[in-house]
Amino acid sequence: MSMFKVSFIFSVLFVVFGAARGFLGNGDTFRRKVSVELNPGLAPPSSLPPGVALVHARGLGLNDTLHFLLCNRGAPALLLVHTNSTESAVQVNWPEFINRSSPGSLRVAPESSVTYSAALVFTRIWEYDDVNNTADPQTAAESSFYSPYELQNFIWSDLNATANQSGHVITLCGRENTESFANGSLCLRLSLFESAGREGAWPSLLHNSNSSQLQVWLDGAAPRGNRSRFALEFQSVGDAGFQGRVDVRSSIDDEYTPSIFKVFDWLSLPLNSSRVWGFSQWKPVAYRKPAPVFEDATPCRSSPLVSVSHVPPSALVQAYFTHQPHTHGLNISFGVDKDPVFYSDTRYISWTVLMGMGEPPADSFSTLIIIIIAVGLGTPLAIIIVGGVFVCVRKRMTQSSVYEPIN
Ligand SMILES: *[C@@H]1O[C@H](CO)[C@@H](O)[C@H](O)[C@H]1NC(C)=O
Ligand SMILES: *[C@@H]1O[C@H](CO)[C@@H](O)[C@H](O)[C@H]1NC(C)=O
Ligand SMILES: *[C@@H]1O[C@H](CO)[C@@H](O)[C@H](O)[C@H]1NC(C)=O
Ligand SMILES: *[C@@H]1O[C@H](CO)[C@@H](O)[C@H](O)[C@H]1NC(C)=O
Ligand SMILES: *[C@@H]1O[C@H](CO)[C@@H](O)[C@H](O)[C@H]1NC(C)=O
Ligand SMILES: *[C@@H]1O[C@H](CO)[C@@H](O)[C@H](O)[C@H]1NC(C)=O
Ligand SMILES: *[C@@H]1O[C@H](CO)[C@@H](O)[C@H](O)[C@H]1NC(C)=O
Ligand SMILES: *[C@@H]1O[C@H](CO)[C@@H](O)[C@H](O)[C@H]1NC(C)=O
Ligand SMILES: *[C@@H]1O[C@H](CO)[C@@H](O)[C@H](O)[C@H]1NC(C)=O
Ligand SMILES: *[C@@H]1O[C@H](CO)[C@@H](O)[C@H](O)[C@H]1NC(C)=O
Ligand SMILES: *[C@@H]1O[C@H](CO)[C@@H](O)[C@H](O)[C@H]1NC(C)=O
Repeated sequence: MSMFKVSFIFSVLFVVFGAARGFLGNGDTFRRKVSVELNPGLAPPSSLPPGVALVHARGLGLNDTLHFLLCNRGAPALLLVHTNSTESAVQVNWPEFINRSSPGSLRVAPESSVTYSAALVFTRIWEYDDVNNTADPQTAAESSFYSPYELQNFIWSDLNATANQSGHVITLCGRENTESFANGSLCLRLSLFESAGREGAWPSLLHNSNSSQLQVWLDGAAPRGNRSRFALEFQSVGDAGFQGRVDVRSSIDDEYTPSIFKVFDWLSLPLNSSRVWGFSQWKPVAYRKPAPVFEDATPCRSSPLVSVSHVPPSALVQAYFTHQPHTHGLNISFGVDKDPVFYSDTRYISWTVLMGMGEPPADSFSTLIIIIIAVGLGTPLAIIIVGGVFVCVRKRMTQSSVYEPIN
């Protein structure tokens, strides 16, 4: 058997294995039946202020239901509620919810079927003048910060929902009533998934049917400084008895997100166990154009988790969590030190996060990488095997030639 043949067999094996994994999407074939409704049960005389909406997406499994709720009353928030029943429903006491968002005015019933709930809230956008070009808001002088944009004060335009067979997409855009936002907007796009897959647009995060994706972008807002950079502050709210932790995973594969080799997982685990119940996941990259090319990618930094003592100013969170939830926050800042491109150059920045229950999706090696590994490992392995066989055969031949005369 020639060296080429052995190497070829190895390559074929790896490619078949890799392709099979690729087609099966990591073997994850679990599907949910997704349906979306707007303002469930809202009827006159109750009405929401203009632009404010409560989007409810139900992901029906075989014997469970995953509810996602998105609401922009107060700071925009995404709430995930998992129930072990297929009959669970969202119940809103609309007068209470609109008036005071008192605890319990929004619930998922029956409450005994709820196994896990968590929320992600976008609270502020920080802007600072990066005179030293460090792109690090944590070391920037306090005087370089402008007053933050409080997302709870934004005015929203009517939401835009589009649905097709493979996905459901809801877009919300808002702005502050100030000069800076005369031509600007902040938008959130929620994508809901029936099955595992990956969006074509960068960062092309891997998703499954137990997760949904939020893209957040700032478009056209006027910078207040000559070297303005931005950071997005968001908070995670969970039941007491759960703790948060941010893990960073590295990969040698950047096929789906060019030049980015890290994944951040903000995990939620019970205090007494190491099983992961929920997560937020992102890659440390933002894009400076709506249709980015390679040069429009900019790395992001995330600040350490801090504990927040008060419930965030989101009607959804205040109305849903009845027992003193735990809140943690962090900032994602856009840009790296010595980066010559500031926000003012494109007046656009976009960042994407995935939120879900269970273990966060993890990329397996792509077929391309598997071929490279196969060729890279297969060739030396073939040389070793063929070399070993050759040495053995040589040894045998010399040995037999030594002993032959004695027989
Ligand atoms: C839910 O369905 C799955 C698959 O059919 C099954 O493995 C699991 O035991 C069921 N869980 C419950 C709580 O019935
Ligand atoms: C809203 O709350 C106020 C007091 O907080 C109360 O007077 C009013 O009746 C409430 N409105 C509704 C529709 O519940
Ligand atoms: C659903 O979860 C609740 C709370 O965790 C539990 O008490 C109940 O037995 C579960 N029901 C089923 C059908 O698994
Ligand atoms: C810039 O760097 C200098 C020296 O490190 C520091 O004193 C100053 O506060 C920094 N300015 C800002 C705005 O961060
Ligand atoms: C909604 O979004 C789609 C796709 O982004 C766009 O084509 C459509 O014009 C939008 N509709 C409205 C009413 O804004
Ligand atoms: C359906 O939506 C998905 C997710 O947004 C998108 O990738 C796909 O191109 C859409 N398909 C059609 C036919 O519009
Ligand atoms: C908004 O756009 C208009 C027209 O393009 C322009 O005249 C105005 O200066 C812009 N305002 C800001 C704050 O950028
Ligand atoms: C999604 O949730 C279902 C129901 O809890 C579970 O059976 C399945 O394994 C989960 N899928 C992933 C990829 O976590
Ligand atoms: C921005 O730069 C211009 C000219 O380069 C200067 O006149 C202006 O004062 C600067 N503005 C700020 C806020 O630093
Ligand atoms: C963790 O603690 C909760 C109550 O705090 C309890 O219901 C649960 O059984 C415990 N789980 C483990 C694995 O000890
Ligand atoms: C985000 O950054 C700002 C400015 O440095 C800081 O005041 C704020 O406390 C940070 N928030 C979190 C949750 O770390």
